[in-house]
Amino acid sequence: MKSPEFKTISAVAHPNIAFIKYWGNRDQALRLPCNSSLSMNLSGLETRTTVRFDPHLTRDVFVFSGEVVVGPVLERVSSFLDRIRSLAKLNVYAHIISRNNFPAGAGIASSASAFAALALAASHAIGLDLNEQELSRLARRGSGSASRSIPGGFVEWQAGISDADSFAFSIAPANHWDLVDLVCVLDSAHKTVGSTGGHALADSSPLQPIRLAHVQERVDQCRKAILERDFESFAQVVEEDSNFMHAVMRTSTPPLHYWLPETEIVLWNVLNWRKEGIPACSTVDAGPNVHVLVLSEYAFEMENRLAELSGVQKIFKASPGPGASLC
Ligand code: PMV
Repeated sequence: MKSPEFKTISAVAHPNIAFIKYWGNRDQALRLPCNSSLSMNLSGLETRTTVRFDPHLTRDVFVFSGEVVVGPVLERVSSFLDRIRSLAKLNVYAHIISRNNFPAGAGIASSASAFAALALAASHAIGLDLNEQELSRLARRGSGSASRSIPGGFVEWQAGISDADSFAFSIAPANHWDLVDLVCVLDSAHKTVGSTGGHALADSSPLQPIRLAHVQERVDQCRKAILERDFESFAQVVEEDSNFMHAVMRTSTPPLHYWLPETEIVLWNVLNWRKEGIPACSTVDAGPNVHVLVLSEYAFEMENRLAELSGVQKIFKASPGPGASLC
């Protein structure tokens, strides 16, 4: 039998910042989250990935930033591709070449853009034609937050109750609201406990049920605030939700302390500047770096103020970005 012809396909995807956080899985293997979450894609920051399936290969070959990757990262990519192979009912390995235009450890979750770009490129390269929901569900299997990097702009990931209904969708396009994310890098070292390990610890915190009890109300408040461009309501719920997640992290067994003293300095100053009338708020993911969200007309002033703070090494600036696309 003649083996099928495979095309070389490239895709681009952007990381995202969660306004209402995903922390903890109901099902680790399927990455079904304990709660729904909300985010914004980050334009200007991107992962570009090229995939070609090749019947001559005896295993997947993954090159990231010009280096051949082996070990657990390759295993994670290969088991993600196994899912695509099983959907396509084809047992063929792939060459994957991928590159980010932002550094690892910059406080920007690269797994989201990585698995979103890989889901899109690899599914096309093997001959599947998945719709947005199917792609989002597929990307979720690589990294939960990757499900949110498939649709464009402002995005909600509905937790769902099964693999079939746990996917993300756009609630507003990128041009809906002129928000800017100023990512304050305080420490660019790799985090010790990554989010996959962290999700598994969430249930060990006595505060996780308390976080989950009202998280859907926060999703609803945040969605409404985004749709109505109500910055004050948005700021209040985004900070509250980030604090709930870090309270859970700190009270897990073992505890996860992601913040540095400088993290608190940025959070404290942003709170005070908001009291002065500047529309800015902050949120922190699984690391010490702070994402400061600000209305674009105040971004220049805010960037200057943040650059003066002790410990701020670098600031990345991103606006609402599009979804994943072929390129
Ligand atoms: O998708 P993961 O497994 O990298 O988890 C992301 C976890 C947080 O970034 C802390 C929160 C979120 O919703 O993005």
